[in-house]
Amino acid sequence: MQDTLSKEQAFEDKIARGQVIEPKDWMPERYRKQLIRMMSQHAHSEVVGMLPEGNWITRAPSLERKLVLLAKVQDEAGHGLYIYSATETLGADRKELIDQLLAGKAKYSSIFNYPTTNWADIGAIGWLVDGAAIVNQTALAKCSYGPYSRAMLRICKEENFHNKQGYQIMARMMRGTKQQQEMAQDAMNRWWWPALMMFGPSDKNSPNSEDLMRWKVKLYSNDDLRQRFIDRTVPQAEAIGLTIPDKELKWNDKTRHYEHGEINWEEFNAVISGNGPCNKQRMNQRIKAHEDGKWVRQAAEAYAAKHYN
Ligand code: 3HC
Repeated sequence: MQDTLSKEQAFEDKIARGQVIEPKDWMPERYRKQLIRMMSQHAHSEVVGMLPEGNWITRAPSLERKLVLLAKVQDEAGHGLYIYSATETLGADRKELIDQLLAGKAKYSSIFNYPTTNWADIGAIGWLVDGAAIVNQTALAKCSYGPYSRAMLRICKEENFHNKQGYQIMARMMRGTKQQQEMAQDAMNRWWWPALMMFGPSDKNSPNSEDLMRWKVKLYSNDDLRQRFIDRTVPQAEAIGLTIPDKELKWNDKTRHYEHGEINWEEFNAVISGNGPCNKQRMNQRIKAHEDGKWVRQAAEAYAAKHYN
């Protein structure tokens, strides 16, 4: 018992000194479990996140837009594989993690349970969803677990491209016909609040934050990152003539932040419990894709058994 206590104290001291924890370092079981939960759900989000946008690859308005969207969706697949690999450094089994997702026993980001009904949604996703991911992931790039923070460094570079191409789509539509402007504003109205929900419940309702902030996995709270996202995004919307769908939004000169309306937490809880607009569709698509890919996994395993054992 004494030995574990001194190990725990040594671990806490390392975290307090801002040292990075590596896979071979001793760590409390709870730290390991929290990271596996958070990182695996992050990886699931990247893979499921391919579906809403993938839906528009064949319908992109030009060859150039098709190429850009293809590159983005391929990046998301890579982010998922990257973060699954980082999760495996904690002793997690990738097949088990994926089985949990497909069995509905693991979460992925609520944002991917909303429909993409037209091309403006692709702009809104790149600009708002990847914009929110950048705010979240630039903080994670400084987190205490080495493999996760290093994965974020590479991923954030690609997220910046995703965010810029999305904003460019919205800016171009806002310089377009009246109908295109209405499409862009409609997408803004549908994606703004779900993008705020990406940062999680309010701090007072965030059961995991205490652990994660004590161990410097989360460097900022859910509400702090959400506020950072709002403060950087509102001027971007105004710059291209989009209106934020929040009548209570107003700049506070004293706090130097935007004040905003209340998030619909009932909607948030419904979506993360599996009752969002597209949860069932997304899971069915992921299950089918996994089954369709079975022969590839079998071939790779057969090759590995023949050549590497
Ligand atoms: N969607 C789904 N579930 C959510 C959620 C969301 N937006 N926000 C919170 N939750 C879940 C949590 O997973 C937790 O449930 P669990 O204990 O069963 O896992 C519960 O709600 C309570 O939330 P907490 O605040 O206590 O949970 P966390 O401390 O883990 O904070 C988080 C939630 C902010 C999402 C944090 O996990 C995090 O920063 N994760 C890493 C980043 C990530 O996963 N991003 C997802 C988007 S990926 C993406 O955007 C891809 C890009 O390329 C487009």
